[in-house]
Amino acid sequence: MKKIIVTGGAGFIGSNFIYYVVNHHPKVYITVLDKLTYAGNYANLAKLPKDRVKLVVGDIADAKLVDSLVKDADTVVHYAAESHNDNSLKSPFPFVQTNLLGTYTLIEACRKYDTRFHHVSTDEVYGDLPLREDLPEKGTGVGEKFTDKTPYNPSSPYSATKAGSDLLVKAWVRSFGLRATISNCSNNYGPYQHIEKFIPRQITNILSGIRPKLYGDGKNVRDWIHTNDHSSGVWTILTKGRIGETYLIGADGEVDNKTVLALILELMGEAPDAFDHVNDRAGHDLRYAIDSTKLREELGWTPQFTNFRNGLKATIDWYENNRPWWEAEKKAVEDNYAKNGQ
Ligand code: NAD
Ligand code: DAU
Repeated sequence: MKKIIVTGGAGFIGSNFIYYVVNHHPKVYITVLDKLTYAGNYANLAKLPKDRVKLVVGDIADAKLVDSLVKDADTVVHYAAESHNDNSLKSPFPFVQTNLLGTYTLIEACRKYDTRFHHVSTDEVYGDLPLREDLPEKGTGVGEKFTDKTPYNPSSPYSATKAGSDLLVKAWVRSFGLRATISNCSNNYGPYQHIEKFIPRQITNILSGIRPKLYGDGKNVRDWIHTNDHSSGVWTILTKGRIGETYLIGADGEVDNKTVLALILELMGEAPDAFDHVNDRAGHDLRYAIDSTKLREELGWTPQFTNFRNGLKATIDWYENNRPWWEAEKKAVEDNYAKNGQ
C-alpha cells in the first residue's frame, strides 16, 4: 500500500489518521479528497509534509473527479461525511447527498479499478442500548454491547445515512467482489474536533466565559475513545483485516455525559454546578457500548490511550493553546444552538 486516498482528511478524525500514517508509515503517500465544508479545515493539514500529503478540494459525489483520483491509487480510506446528529435533525439533505450518494460514487470507482476500500462508520448504526442502571445485571459489569452481529436500528437522519452507506458497501462486496472492509467506531475525542461537538463545545464555552450546556438530564452514555486509537484500529484493519468483514473499534470507555462534564469543569478549575441544563436532542440515543473483541483477538489491536482523564486534560490544553483555530467560529456555532434552546 503506497498511494492512498483519504476522503474527509481535513476533518477531525481523518486529519488525525493522516498524522498517524505520516508518523508511523514512511513509505505511504496520501491524497486527501475533501470538500472543505464548514467541518473541514485546511489548517488541520498545515503541519504535514507537502511531499507526502496532497490536498484535492472536491466532492466525493463528483464521479469524474473521483474516477480520476481512484485510477492512480492503491487504497481508499473513506472518512468524508456529514457527521453531526444535531445538524441532521435540522437539515437532513446534505447527509443523504454526501453519506449515501458520496459513498456510492466512491465504491463505483473502486469497483471499476479493483481498488481496496475501507469504509469508516459509526456505532450509531446499531441504535442505542438501555442504560446500565436499567439492566437486570445492574452493577455486575455484565450487559449487552454492540457487536458486528447486532441488527441495524439507526435513530437519526445522520445514523440512518451512515447505516445506508454501510449496507451499500456490504452489497458491493457480495454482488461485485469489492475488496472492502468496514469499521464501526464509538465516540472519538482529541485535538482538531469541531467545536459543535460535545467535548470541544464545553471546553471552548468555558474558555469563552460561556456556561457549558448539558442536554436533558445528562444520563446518556457514550463510549469514548481517543482518536489516535481509532487511527491505529483503522490501520490494523486496512493491513490485516479480512475482506468483507466488519470490525467494531472501541476502548471500553463508557461514561455518562454528566460525568464527562463534571470532569471538564474540575480540570478547568470551575465549580461543579457551573453549567446549564438545556433542551434535549430529539430522539436522543441513550447509551452506546462497543464490544471490540473481534478486532482485538483476530487482528491483535489494543488501544493505547485509555486514561480518559489524561486524554481529556491534553485535549483541554490543545484548545487552550490553539485559540486561533476555533475562536472566529465560536459565536456563530453558539448562536445556532441558541435558536434551538440549546
Ligand atoms: P468531521 O465532520 O469532523 O469531518 C468530515 C470531513 O468530511 C470534513 O473535512 C468535510 O469537509 C469532509 N466532507 C464532508 N462532505 C464532503 C463531501 N461531499 N466531499 C468531500 N469531503 C466532504 O467528521 P469526523 O468526526 O472527523 O468523522 C469522520 C468519519 O468518521 C465520518 O464518516 C463519521 O461518520 C465517522 N465516525 C465519527 C465518529 C466521531 O466520534 N466523530 C465516531 C465514529 C465514526
Ligand atoms: O458514536 C459515534 C458518533 O459520535 C459519531 O458517529 C458522530 O459523528 C459523532 O458526532 C458522535 O455523535 P454523538 O451525537 O454521540 O456526539 P455529540 O458530540 O454530538 O454528543 C455527545 C453527547 O453529548 C450526546 O449524548 C449529546 C450530548 N450533548 C451534545 C452537545 C453538543 C450535550 O449534552 N450538550 C451539547 O452541547
